Amino acid sequence: MKVLVTGGAGFIGSHTVVALVKAGYTPIIIDNFENSDNSVLDGLAEILGAQPLCYEGDCRDGELLSMIFEAHPDLQGVIHFAANKAVGESVKDPLKYYDNNLGSTITLLKAMVHYGVPNLAFSSSCTVYGQPEVLPVTESSPVQAAQSPYGNTKQICEEILQDAVRSGLNLRVLSLRYFNPIGAHESAIIGELPIGPPQNLVPFITQTAVGLREQLSIFGHDYNTPDGTCIRDYIHVVDLADAHVAAIKVLEAKQDVDQYYDFVNIGTGTGSTVLQVVNTFEAVSGVKVNYQLVERRPGDVEQVYAQVDKATNLLGWKTKLTLEDALRDAWRWEQRLAENRADEADEEEDGFMD
Ligand code: UFG
Repeated sequence: MKVLVTGGAGFIGSHTVVALVKAGYTPIIIDNFENSDNSVLDGLAEILGAQPLCYEGDCRDGELLSMIFEAHPDLQGVIHFAANKAVGESVKDPLKYYDNNLGSTITLLKAMVHYGVPNLAFSSSCTVYGQPEVLPVTESSPVQAAQSPYGNTKQICEEILQDAVRSGLNLRVLSLRYFNPIGAHESAIIGELPIGPPQNLVPFITQTAVGLREQLSIFGHDYNTPDGTCIRDYIHVVDLADAHVAAIKVLEAKQDVDQYYDFVNIGTGTGSTVLQVVNTFEAVSGVKVNYQLVERRPGDVEQVYAQVDKATNLLGWKTKLTLEDALRDAWRWEQRLAENRADEADEEEDGFMD
């Protein structure tokens, strides 16, 4: 049972590759390594005992996709992660985001239809809800005008997918609207690899704790929340990866249905403030985080967390891991990265002495 994983060397993609193998699938990766590293493949080999097949290339490359679909006529489905994801960068370079995120989705859909592979799990985001009026946010909450080109690409991709299904193409699609993915594999062999200073909270916390960053800035402390900081629904990336396997199984079970489109929240159902995350991190790591409370970050919503009943009913899935687990695993991963850097520095020094 082969599943194509676009962006399979990325943060969520690599953990999903592990989850697929555990569930008896054979993942095939396509990744352009723009925002991921080749070493992830070594990590996957270490965890899985063998390196998954990986094609290096871009999902907008229709010829490459044709080659992959022809080489694997037994593909059961596709999980589409490949996309740019930095909110700030998308504001500065919107065309890059529209070109890549929309272009890859359209090219992939065309190939899926052409080669008769109908099942697609799509990587969407809770960003489509903006600041919901009612919390926890259910799937019946309205989609709101996007705050960034990145967010807009997720909304537009969902619309493209829905239109393609409505038009009668043989496609079965589930959009997974993720809340905030954090953590790392429990082995600390794969995890998040931010390029440059992290934009997201948890990698910034772990990099501060390990000494790579001087201070965490907590954006806003006057929100209408118990401690004044924003609330998010932080989900362990391993739980999130399992949700993709569940989605593929649901799509496979619908083989008698020619057209299917739905979307579902993938979160824990619990909101945590930024300060709660920092305090929990300090408790599980035993390390104090140097932080300061600063002004709000433009574009941040005050609070958002998921209602997860639909995920439970539709996918038969719910999270198993806690915020503590996720922060402990993120910390182990950060420490392992620090050890690797120290080893590399030693090797360089030895080389210099020789
Ligand atoms: N935060 C800080 N300091 C930091 C980084 C983040 O205080 O250095 C705060 C943010 O203000 C926010 C919370 O931590 O309150 C979480 O921020 P993240 O950047 O980790 O995550 P976001 O909720 O902003 O991002 C998520 C998804 C994106 C999506 C975005 C839409 O990760 O994919 O929601 O708002 F686009």
